[in-house]
Amino acid sequence: MTPDEFRELGHALVEWVARYREDLPGLPVMSAVRPGDIRAQLPATPPEAPGALQALLPLLDSVVLPGITHWNHPRFFAYFPSKTHLASVLADLVCAGLGAQGMSWQTSPAATEVEEVMLEWLRQLLGLPLAFSGVLQDTASTATLVALLCAREKSTGLALCRGGLQQAHAPLVVYTSEMAHSSVEKAALLAGFGRDYVRFLPTDAAHALQVEALASAVQADVAAGLQPCAVVATTGTTSTTAMDPVAAVAEVARRHALWLHVDAAMAGTAMVCPELRWMWAGVEAADSVVFNPHKWMGVGFDCTAYFVRDVGHLLSVMSTHPSYLRTKADAEVKNFRDWGIPLGRRFRALKVWFVLHSLGADGLRAAVRRDVALAQGLAARVDAAPGWERCAPVPLQTVCVRHLLPGASAAEEDAHNLALAEAVNATGEAYVTPAVVKGRRLIRISIGALDTAQPDVDAVWALLQRCAADVGR
Ligand SMILES: Cc1ncc(COP(=O)(O)O)c(C=O)c1O
Repeated sequence: MTPDEFRELGHALVEWVARYREDLPGLPVMSAVRPGDIRAQLPATPPEAPGALQALLPLLDSVVLPGITHWNHPRFFAYFPSKTHLASVLADLVCAGLGAQGMSWQTSPAATEVEEVMLEWLRQLLGLPLAFSGVLQDTASTATLVALLCAREKSTGLALCRGGLQQAHAPLVVYTSEMAHSSVEKAALLAGFGRDYVRFLPTDAAHALQVEALASAVQADVAAGLQPCAVVATTGTTSTTAMDPVAAVAEVARRHALWLHVDAAMAGTAMVCPELRWMWAGVEAADSVVFNPHKWMGVGFDCTAYFVRDVGHLLSVMSTHPSYLRTKADAEVKNFRDWGIPLGRRFRALKVWFVLHSLGADGLRAAVRRDVALAQGLAARVDAAPGWERCAPVPLQTVCVRHLLPGASAAEEDAHNLALAEAVNATGEAYVTPAVVKGRRLIRISIGALDTAQPDVDAVWALLQRCAADVGR
C-alpha cells in the first residue's frame, strides 16, 4: 500500500469509525450471533493473490459488526466499563503508524519519555505520594503477576538468583479476600505459590475483607512454620465494588513484613476526585498499586498503570542484560523492558496523553461524578421499589440488585434472576451481568460507558422491571 492509497482508505475508515460511533445508540448492545456464525463467513484458506483492501470495507458491516458487543454503547451496563474516547482511537492510529518498539530508551526515546511523564501525571491525578514510580503494562492481570513475583523475591532475598522456590526454607503464603478478582489467584498460581498457600479470607456484610481474619490467618501460618509473603487488597471489587480497608491491611502487612499490593483496577480512576480518595485511605503504605486507565478512564484497551515504591527491587526481579540489548545510554535512562515481563513494548503512553490532554483533570472528574450520581439515583429507586433488593453498598457506579420471588426458595430465586439477566440481554436494549456473590445470584448494573445519561439508566431499570414481570409469568 502506498502512502496515497493509505490516505484514501484511511479517510474512509476514519469515516467508518465516526459513523459507527454515531450509530451506536441504535445497535443491539450484546451481539446475538451464535458460536461459529462469524467463522463460517470467512474463507477457510488464506488468499493466494494480493487483494484490494477496499473489498474488506463492506465486510466490516456485514461480517464484523454483527459479532461485536458494543462496549461503548450508552446502554452497556455489563462487567465494568471499558470505554474508549475517540482521542484514544486517534492515538492508537498514530502508534500503529509509527510502528515503534519502545523496549529500551534508545529504541524510541519518545516512547519511554512520554510514558515517564504520563505515569507521573497519573500519579498526581490519583493523589499517590511522590515515592511511587509508574510503568504501563498491558493488563491488571500482568501487573498483579509482577507484584506477586516481586513479593516472592522480597521474601526470599532474591532467591531467583540462587535455587528459587525449589530451595525455599518454608512455603510462602499469599492472602486476599474471597472477593478478589480471579487474576489474583491466577497470578499467585503462576508465581508458584501453589493453591494450598493462597488464603481467600472472609468478607463483612459490605463484602470487604475482614482484617481480623487476615491477622489471625497470618498468625496461624507463622505458628505452622509457614512464611507469610504478600497480601492483595482490592479497592473496588469486581462483583460489588467493595472497598477493602487498605490502612488496616497495611498495618498487618507492616507488622509481618508482607508485600502489600492494592488492586484498584476499576476504582483507581475514581481517585481523580479528592472526595473519593477515602476509598483507598492507607494506599501510601502499599508496595505496589495497579489501576486500569482502560476501564473507566476512557483510554482504549489495553492500558494498565502499575505503580511501585521500590524501583530497584522491581529491576532486580525483572531485568536481563544480554549483550544485544545493552546501549550507551543505559546508565542515564529508564529501559522499561526491565520494569515488566515482555521485552517488546508498544507506544501505549500516546493514548494516555491524548486522553488526558483532551479531557483534562476537570473532564475526568466530571465523568466519574456523573456516573457516581447516576448510580446513587438508581440505588435509591431500587431501595424504594417493592419486590427488589439492593445487594451491596454503592460507593461507585455499580448497583447490584436481586428481584425477589416471595415464597420461592433461594435456588428458585437465583434461577429467576439468572433468567432475568439473560432476558434483558437478549432484548439487545441493554447489557447487564449476572453474578454469584456468597452463593446467591444477583444482577450487576455497572454504569460508565462514554455517553450513558439519565434516560439510559431509566431505560435499563424499566427494562429490568418489564423482563422481571415477563420471566416470572
Ligand atoms: C478488581 C479487578 N482486578 C483485576 C481485573 C483484571 O483486569 P485486566 O483485564 O486488566 O487483567 C479486573 C477486571 O475486571 C478487576 O475488576
